[in-house]
Amino acid sequence: MAKRILLTGGAGYIGSHTYLALVEAGYDVVIFDSFANARRDVPDRLAQVTGKPVTVIEGDVRSRQALDQVFGDRSFDAVVHFAALKAVGESVERPLDYFDVNLGGLTTLLKAMDAAGCRRLVFSSSACVYGIPDETPTPETAEYRAMNPYGQTKIVGEQVLTALTAANPDWAAGILRYFNPAGAHRSALIGEDPRDIPNNLMPYIARVALGELDRISVFGDDYDTPDGTGVRDYIHVEDLARGHVLSLDRLLDAGDSHVVNLGTGRGHSVLEMIEAYKRASNRDLPYTITDRRPGDVPVYVARADKAAQVLGFTTEKTLEDMCSSSWAWITSDAARRED
Ligand code: UFG
Repeated sequence: MAKRILLTGGAGYIGSHTYLALVEAGYDVVIFDSFANARRDVPDRLAQVTGKPVTVIEGDVRSRQALDQVFGDRSFDAVVHFAALKAVGESVERPLDYFDVNLGGLTTLLKAMDAAGCRRLVFSSSACVYGIPDETPTPETAEYRAMNPYGQTKIVGEQVLTALTAANPDWAAGILRYFNPAGAHRSALIGEDPRDIPNNLMPYIARVALGELDRISVFGDDYDTPDGTGVRDYIHVEDLARGHVLSLDRLLDAGDSHVVNLGTGRGHSVLEMIEAYKRASNRDLPYTITDRRPGDVPVYVARADKAAQVLGFTTEKTLEDMCSSSWAWITSDAARRED
């Protein structure tokens, strides 16, 4: 029988791509999502891609009652937990919401899982736990440094899981530190919601390519990087999704907890990203160099060897794939359709 997985936040950007990767790998997947930051039409799109019905339960991870109902109705082999708030700037303005959803949601989920005897969890963490790292490419052994409340919630979330797995050998957790996800599903039916006001570089570039925004602001060209602009390790969201499948396989087969970076191990500057997107979209992409964005890190690049050793994970998609799939998605009817 197929193993059954609960995907909290499974209708979001990374969650929906992971849903497709898990179904492709033969898992039976149930989505639990509050739709606070996900489009209502995502489940239909997922069904279109897989050709199978999608099971979605609407609910909030902070509700123990809702979770008990979910675990009471079905048994689950593991949970992949995406449901969380993720905007750095917003976390500075609304820290309580971030602690409430990201940490309150996590501990409520863990208690409900424990009560139901489901003790395998894959956790969405972030490269932001490294703050401004001393070493790049950054290894998993780099120390924790919080830069903002969002980062604090990811650090404490990891610590909660480390304490839990140390206290109880029945528990195992896969902690995945994402670098910068980019791109969209090859079907062009699933991607990052283009209607959000973009904080992040890739969706911003996409909106300028579409002609919906005038020009890109490049936040600083005086960093100690080859062209002076910020360098990031962009990873195709389909590669990232596959990393979750491998983490889950490992948890279910061997019961081994792990903490790994999910990145490519290669960095690209803001200007390189603009050039790559220009080639993929064949559009003019005007930009202006502006001041640095407060709190920005000059370089984030993953040491990618541990994910390769522990999970057998290596990325397959290129920067061109990220840009072309983003462009195919954002220019598709699917992306523009209203709920
Ligand atoms: N940038 C611009 N202009 C923009 C947006 C971004 O020049 O309009 C630059 C930034 O200065 C940075 C790079 O593009 O150099 C990437 O910025 P993003 O906002 O896309 O991503 P960040 O790396 O700042 O942050 C993202 C997530 C965080 C996560 C981090 C981990 O938003 O949650 O990746 O690498 F912690």
